[in-house]
Amino acid sequence: MPTKGFIIAIDGPVASGKGTLALKLAQTLNGFYLHTGAMYRCIALMCIDKGLDLKNESQVESVLEDLDISLAGNKVILSGRDVTERIKEPGVASGASEIGVYPKIREVSVLRQQTIAKNEVSQGKIVVSEGRDTGTVVFPDAPFKLYLTAKPEVRAHRRMVQYGNLSEDDLIRELEKLKTRDKRDIERETSPLPAEPEALGYFVLDNSDLKEEETMSKVIAELKKRKLIK
Ligand code: DC
Repeated sequence: MPTKGFIIAIDGPVASGKGTLALKLAQTLNGFYLHTGAMYRCIALMCIDKGLDLKNESQVESVLEDLDISLAGNKVILSGRDVTERIKEPGVASGASEIGVYPKIREVSVLRQQTIAKNEVSQGKIVVSEGRDTGTVVFPDAPFKLYLTAKPEVRAHRRMVQYGNLSEDDLIRELEKLKTRDKRDIERETSPLPAEPEALGYFVLDNSDLKEEETMSKVIAELKKRKLIK
C-alpha cells in the first residue's frame, strides 16, 4: 500500500486515542511508530531512578549526556533495558509533563525525534509520530497532520475503563483533572497543544462517537484522498 517514506504527525489531548491509532496505523502501513512522549517519559524515569529533583532544571538536564533511547514498535529501550511498562507508571507520566517544559529537554528530544524520523524516511518508511507538538514544532512540514480529539466526558470515561474503575464520583474527579490538564497543555508557553488546529493545517477528527476501527478507516480514507497512500 505505501509508496514512499513520509511523516504523519498526530497530536491531540490526553486520552484522545492517538497512541492506539498511531501504533495501529504504523503497523498497517508497515511504517515506524514514533511515540514522542516516550522520550519525555524516559528522561523523567532516569531522574526518578537517580533520585533527582524534577523541579531542579539543571539536575534534570544532567541526565541528557547519558540519554540512550531506542524505539521498536511499541517497545521502549532505555540504556539497553526494556522500560516499556515502567514508563506507563503514573509517577513517570506526571514527571514527563513536569520535565517537558524545560527548553533544553525539549531541544534535545525534538532533535532526536527528527533524527530518528529522517533515518526511517530515508529508508522509505512512513513515520507515524504522535505527541503534542509533532505537527507544529517537530515536523512542521509533515504532509499529513491529524488532530485527534474527543469530548472531555468521553476521554474521562476511557481513562476510567483503562483503570478498571467506573464509580460515578471518580469519573467526575477524572473529568475535572482532564479539563485542568487540557487547559495547561494549551496555555503552556513551550510547544503548547494547538488551540486552533484547523488554522494550522491539521485534519481534525473528533472520535467521540467512533469505534477504534472507524477512526482508523477515516484516517486511511483521508490519506488515500490526499494520494499519500494507494
Ligand atoms: O503522550 P504521552 O502521554 O506519552 O506524554 C507524556 C508526557 O510527555 C505528556 O504529559 C507531556 C509530555 N510530552 C510533551 O511535552 N511533548 C510531546 N511531544 C509528547 C509528550
